[in-house]
Amino acid sequence: MSKQSIVVLSGAGISAESGLKTFRDANGLWEGHDVMEVATPQGWETNQELVLKFYNDRRRQLLEVLPNLAHKSLVQLEKYYNVQIITQNVDDLHERAGSSHILHLHGELLKVRCTKNPSEIIHWNTDLTKEDYSSSGAQLRPHIVWFGEDVPLLDEATHLVSKAAHIIIVGTSMQVYPAASLIDFAKPNAKIYLVDPQPAISPRSNLKVYKEKATKGIQKIVNELINAVNQ
Ligand code: APR
Repeated sequence: MSKQSIVVLSGAGISAESGLKTFRDANGLWEGHDVMEVATPQGWETNQELVLKFYNDRRRQLLEVLPNLAHKSLVQLEKYYNVQIITQNVDDLHERAGSSHILHLHGELLKVRCTKNPSEIIHWNTDLTKEDYSSSGAQLRPHIVWFGEDVPLLDEATHLVSKAAHIIIVGTSMQVYPAASLIDFAKPNAKIYLVDPQPAISPRSNLKVYKEKATKGIQKIVNELINAVNQ
C-alpha cells in the first residue's frame, strides 16, 4: 500500500525545549532586539553591523543546542508515511534530528547569500562580517527572509499542504503571513493536529488540539499515527 502524506508546519515553539527562544513570548522583542531593527531590509540599510552581530549571535547559539524529542520523534514517522517538514524556523534542528524532507520558508541561519545575485547561496557556520564577499565581489548577507521580503518557497509549500492527508502544526503562533495562510490550502478532509501549550487557532473540522509542549504532544501524535498504520 502506498504511504499517506504528512506535512508538518513547525515554528519556534518546537525548538523552545532545545533552548532557543520563541518570538512572540517576549513582547515583540527577539533576544532583546526590536524585530524591525534586525529583521527587515530597512534595518539592514540602517545598521548592517547590528544586523550582522545579531545573526552571528544566533548562529553561535544554534551551534550550542541540540534537537529535542519533538524533532527526533517526527523522524520515526518516515517509516510509515511520506513526511514533509515545512518550517518557519531558521535553525537546523530538523536536519540534525534526521528528517529527510525539510523546506525552510524563512531561510536558514547556516547559509548566507550574495546581495547582488540571490541564487549564490553559501553554507556558513562562523561569524559573517562586512568584509565577506561573494564570488562576484558583492557583500554577503544572512540567508533569511526578512519582514517585507518575498517568500520564495511559498508556492512549493502551498502545493505540498494541498496534497497532505495529515497536517501537524507545532509551535507556531500562526500570526506571520503568508506562512499562516498555508493551512487554508489543506484538503477539506485532511486531518489537522495542533501542538501548542497556548493554542490560538479558530475551531475547524478535523482539528485535534494537543495543549502541550512540543516534546510531549508530538510523541503522542507520532504514536497515534504509527498505531493507525499498524492496525
Ligand atoms: N512547545 C510547543 N509550542 C510552544 C512551546 C513548546 N515548548 N513554547 C512556546 N510554544 C508556542 C507558543 O505558544 C506560540 O504559539 O510556540 C509558538 C511560537 O510562536 P512565535 O513566537 O510567533 O513563533 P513563530 O510562529 O515560529 O514565528 C513566525 O515570526 O519573527 C518571525 O520569521 C520569524 O519565523 C518566524 C515567524
